[in-house]
Amino acid sequence: MTVTASPASRAAEILSRPVTLNGLTVPNRIAMAPMTRMFSPGGVPGEDVRSYYARRAAAGVGLIVTEGTYVGHESAGQSDRVPRFHGEEQLAGWAKVAEAVHAAGGTIVPQLWHIGMVREQGQAPYADAPAMGPSGIRPDGTEGTGKAMTQGDLDDVIGAFAEAAAAAERIGFDGVELHGAHGYLIDQFLWAGTNRRTDAYGGDPVSRTKFAAEIVAAVRETVSPDFPVIFRFSQWKQDAYDARLAETPEELGAILAPLAAAGVDVFHASTRRHWIPEFEGSDLNLAGWTKKLTGRPTITVGSVGLDGDFIRAFAGEGAPVQGIDDLLDRLERDEFDMVAVGRALLQDPEWAAKVLAGRTGELKPYDAAALRTLS
Ligand SMILES: Cc1cc2nc3c(=O)[nH]c(=O)nc-3n(C[C@H](O)[C@H](O)[C@H](O)COP(=O)(O)O)c2cc1C
Repeated sequence: MTVTASPASRAAEILSRPVTLNGLTVPNRIAMAPMTRMFSPGGVPGEDVRSYYARRAAAGVGLIVTEGTYVGHESAGQSDRVPRFHGEEQLAGWAKVAEAVHAAGGTIVPQLWHIGMVREQGQAPYADAPAMGPSGIRPDGTEGTGKAMTQGDLDDVIGAFAEAAAAAERIGFDGVELHGAHGYLIDQFLWAGTNRRTDAYGGDPVSRTKFAAEIVAAVRETVSPDFPVIFRFSQWKQDAYDARLAETPEELGAILAPLAAAGVDVFHASTRRHWIPEFEGSDLNLAGWTKKLTGRPTITVGSVGLDGDFIRAFAGEGAPVQGIDDLLDRLERDEFDMVAVGRALLQDPEWAAKVLAGRTGELKPYDAAALRTLS
């Protein structure tokens, strides 16, 4: 006879298993999803940002992926309150963040970001810099005032990612995540909707992946072989929730294979709802397909722990809901390796500690007011 564990203790048991990502051992399966917060004036993460991350590490988040942080290219961003991953003061701020997270028992990677054609010209931190992307097209399909990138621009941006990754290793981070998702620069190349190039960087899925693969290769060459390189990607875009990079597993495989070959250690497959099957005829979600196609460890994400149903399922009340049981089943089947949690961790810094200790009756429902503070 098998004894059925309570939902809370089953979650605690499965989520507290360590996992290895290249040379890094993460103490459990819970990651903090990258979330832009805009609390870093001058691009410098200060004491409040440091304690925001350290608090979550101390409460059991195994891997923190920081908010998107701009690489050192003048067209990379458009806010002076988003942290930068270049410059002496900015990197000194980040070094203290990494140190504080380590002191709290966690691991941390910066998410390296270039926004490409999302940029409005005239915005900080470099007002005169042009918006640029593969074809000067915005992710909403409009032709902006932006510039189609020249080979020189591509080389500069590739160099900026590699430099940021080298800095990450130098100042004590545990790896890097490259932001290839949601309609920003790297994704603008991956997606046919924004990439109309007729040179080697445009055309079929493999050609559209060339820029991303060159960034990965440059990063891989710059950092130590055992330093984890995570690549985040998505089908959906900030301006187009229904957009798709790949309509079939074959197309997805064509995009992921060159990235894996270039040196991606871990894929972070960004979906808005983790339980939705990605392609017809299989239950696998995007992270599941990604692992099946590449053999690399993957991170899933999307509405974990957000609603009252999730909390009730933990507490064992009412009918089982999609939330936790399905997620744990998929983890047990090795469909993916880690679960990233976004908004629920904004709401409740103690989210991971409560889940890992089975104190799930204490979980708090999400309220968008959490976006306004850095508590
Ligand atoms: C306030 C906020 C900021 C975000 N910023 C980023 C970001 O900088 N980089 C990124 O890849 N995703 C970003 N996301 C998406 C999250 O990483 C995550 O994929 C999404 O919130 C879904 O997870 P959740 O349902 O657990 O919140 C952001 C989400 C929120 C709510």
